[in-house]
Amino acid sequence: MAKKTEIGSGIEEQIARLRALREEARLGGGPRRIEQQHARGKLTARERLDLLLDPGTFTELDPFVTHRCAEFGLANQRYLGDSVVTGYGQIDGRLVFVFSQDFTVFGGSLSEAHAEKVCKIMDLAMKVGAPVVGLNDSGGARIQEGVTSLAGYADIFLRNVMASGVVPQISAILGPCAGGAVYSPAMTDFIAMVKETSYMFVTGPEVVRTVTHEEVSFEDLGGAMVHNSVSGVAHFAANSEPECLHLVRRLLSYVPSNNAEDPPAVPCDDPTDRMDPKLDHLVPAQATKSYDVREVIRRIVDHGDFLEVHEHWAESIVVGFARLAGRPVGVVAQQPAVLAGVLDINASTKGARFVRFCDCFNVPLVTLVDVPGFLPGVGQEHGGIIRHGAKLLYAYCEATVPKVTVILRKAYGGAYDVMSSKHIRGDINLAWPTAEIAVMGPEGAVNIIFRDTIADAADPEAERKRLVAEYVERFANPYVAAGRGYIDDVIEPHETRPRLVTALAMLRSKRDTNPPKKHGNLPL
Ligand code: HXC
Repeated sequence: MAKKTEIGSGIEEQIARLRALREEARLGGGPRRIEQQHARGKLTARERLDLLLDPGTFTELDPFVTHRCAEFGLANQRYLGDSVVTGYGQIDGRLVFVFSQDFTVFGGSLSEAHAEKVCKIMDLAMKVGAPVVGLNDSGGARIQEGVTSLAGYADIFLRNVMASGVVPQISAILGPCAGGAVYSPAMTDFIAMVKETSYMFVTGPEVVRTVTHEEVSFEDLGGAMVHNSVSGVAHFAANSEPECLHLVRRLLSYVPSNNAEDPPAVPCDDPTDRMDPKLDHLVPAQATKSYDVREVIRRIVDHGDFLEVHEHWAESIVVGFARLAGRPVGVVAQQPAVLAGVLDINASTKGARFVRFCDCFNVPLVTLVDVPGFLPGVGQEHGGIIRHGAKLLYAYCEATVPKVTVILRKAYGGAYDVMSSKHIRGDINLAWPTAEIAVMGPEGAVNIIFRDTIADAADPEAERKRLVAEYVERFANPYVAAGRGYIDDVIEPHETRPRLVTALAMLRSKRDTNPPKKHGNLPL
């Protein structure tokens, strides 16, 4: 709590006073509350910044700001800096703006002053074009302040939206994040949560019990794994706070500081002409057999290094960041090991969001296709697969970043068009010899177009088999599409890495635009 500090006359006394005040600010809610924070298994706001930023690079702003509320006896409870630490620093030598909510001061709750501090660094980040990283650990609106706290949230929400697509915004959830407060992280680009110690919900277990009579724990309602595997609200789940903060650093290494810059390139000692013979045998000859597309990705990208986003949600599609020849790319790939790589509602939304992030921030897209189509079913249709599938189509259509596509095996029906096809401005579209590009799979196609022929045959089953084999021969290959130029080339799987590297190098100076408009109308 702020103490009266003696006012001395000489510079020595003035400096001593400044130092005393700084020390007071550094302690936040004081040693007892810091101890409690540690006892909860959590780090303090400043300890977290130490782990997030390059050593010695943090410059704090507003350490002397205090709340202005005099209600409920708060006039005598002022803490220097109030409930958030803000400023700027570096990650891998690159500028970032940060706020770190301090749970030791009024449970990290958001006062008018807290909001003003956050808004100040967001405004600076926008002026200079640098990412904003928010470390969230807060009991929500400062209850004693009432509507001024709500106003503060709204001021932050507005800035989240204005910054969206201009500077990357990343949220780490390291404690409570509840009520309307969740909507600030929700409007940032990525959310990382820590297992066991963080949770997000609009209404907590108490309210849920009252309204719907459901009994649920904090963890089961809004814990890290719930939001990573069920709701899709969060993109990353970390086992600990240090792991979470390290992940934020790694994530930022793939993205530029703002939408006018290219993603940062790093020196690459993984040979760009590296061939991988294992790729030739990775996709099983039998179309119904599965494989793990992550292995394909790892064999293609620099050093096998792949940062998967949304790893635990909508697993029939895999998205994430990697590098080719030292330059970041966004990888989107079907996962045949899960639901045969089908596009369902969640997979479409997941893919669309990732594609749009990459397009916002000039990250080229590498799409690996092995898709049997959209998932059939009453649940999917009634759930709006039309609306959600359209998001992915929309996202690929509007994306103007370099788009390189490789069809590994199946590319059936509408899903062929959707997955960064030539027709929606795919720049380079390649196929492996195992590719099957057709309106639908051979069995389904033959059953429909040859129904009568099969029924009339002396041996219908033998006739059906013959027709399927004929269909496979004629259509289930890449050469019809390649014959029309929809596929630029059919390549041997082992040469995928060099072919992607060459394509992306050729596309480095790509410029493409969309018609001027206020904004499009993404089918939400
Ligand atoms: C003021 C708060 C506070 C808040 C916590 N504190 N939340 N003070 N406003 N919102 C204070 C506590 O009084 C306590 O002070 C200290 O922070 C630590 O809190 P504890 O309860 O001891 O911690 P813990 O047991 O870990 O529980 C954390 C918690 C709980 C689950 C977050 O504090 C809680 O339920 N807080 C209220 C949450 C809430 O209803 N917020 C409003 C949501 S609505 P002392 O002095 O005792 O240590 C909202 C609207 C946003 O946020 C709208 C945006 C549009």
